[in-house]
Amino acid sequence: MKSIASAPGKIILFGEHFVVHGTKAILAAIDKRVTVTSTFTENKTIKVNSELGTIEVPISSSHEEVESKFRPFVYLANEMITSNQDINGLEITINSDIPIGVGLGSSSACCVAATASISGLFKEVSSEDNLKMSIEAEKTIFPNTSGADCTVCTYGGMIIYDKISGIEKIDNTSDLNFIITNTMIPHSTKRSVEKVSKFKEDYDEEWDEMFVDMEVIIDTAIQAIKNNDVVTLGKRMYQNHQTLAAIGVSNDTLDYVIRELNKISFGSKITGAGDGGCIITLIEEENVDKAPEIVGNDRECFSAKIDTKGVELKREK
Ligand code: MEV
Repeated sequence: MKSIASAPGKIILFGEHFVVHGTKAILAAIDKRVTVTSTFTENKTIKVNSELGTIEVPISSSHEEVESKFRPFVYLANEMITSNQDINGLEITINSDIPIGVGLGSSSACCVAATASISGLFKEVSSEDNLKMSIEAEKTIFPNTSGADCTVCTYGGMIIYDKISGIEKIDNTSDLNFIITNTMIPHSTKRSVEKVSKFKEDYDEEWDEMFVDMEVIIDTAIQAIKNNDVVTLGKRMYQNHQTLAAIGVSNDTLDYVIRELNKISFGSKITGAGDGGCIITLIEEENVDKAPEIVGNDRECFSAKIDTKGVELKREK
């Protein structure tokens, strides 16, 4: 029995970091996916193969004993093994076309696809249960995750995410063209999230003001998306970027590239944790070709389509 699941990567259009502390966020799935294949083995081990390496650990190993890049998979394997006692071993293979560690949701897509793939060896679980389990898996590497990334990787399309009141899908997004610039500056989501929490503690009054501003930015962005008003949407994106810069997750290089991209687009911002990683730009189709020259040879840029498909599972005998 082979259980194969795939999930899309993501961009955050609005609300990264603030969503961890209670604002809404707007996210979209993109047309780059991770595929996870799981099979039973007789080896009394959990084996994980990915482009980041391979591990094989005894079936009773705790996820805490393995390197963080393998932790969600060992965690999920253990969860399934505990509830299905007669398993001898599992092998999990990850193939991804989402660039790793650049803010495009590769770890969330891995957690979502791995949950569906491993549980698919036993039964197909509902999207809601798949999401809950994948967030727990992601917490083994990002304990403070808002759950927003796993949510969009599960459902696909564009969503408004709210930790308390759930999600709302936005349908009329086919006219939006984005380009993604990979700045090639390495970053750590965990470290950036911790840095923002420290900022919130140290500058509580400034934070409270920015939090209210972010809520307004997001609400007006939602209206702009619903009205197909790309001009306002782009302006709100850059405003969101300036707020992210004010809480300390941008830098001079990112700010410079974003300002340059703004000249040929409706607006740009960092996407995801920041401190490096990727920039998203809302742009008219006819200006897409101007972007590579602006971002320069040492950065990579590509256009992204919004992917309407979330997690998908295929089981083969
Ligand atoms: C990371 O892609 C997005 C953050 O808002 C963290 C989170 O929501 O868990 C920075």
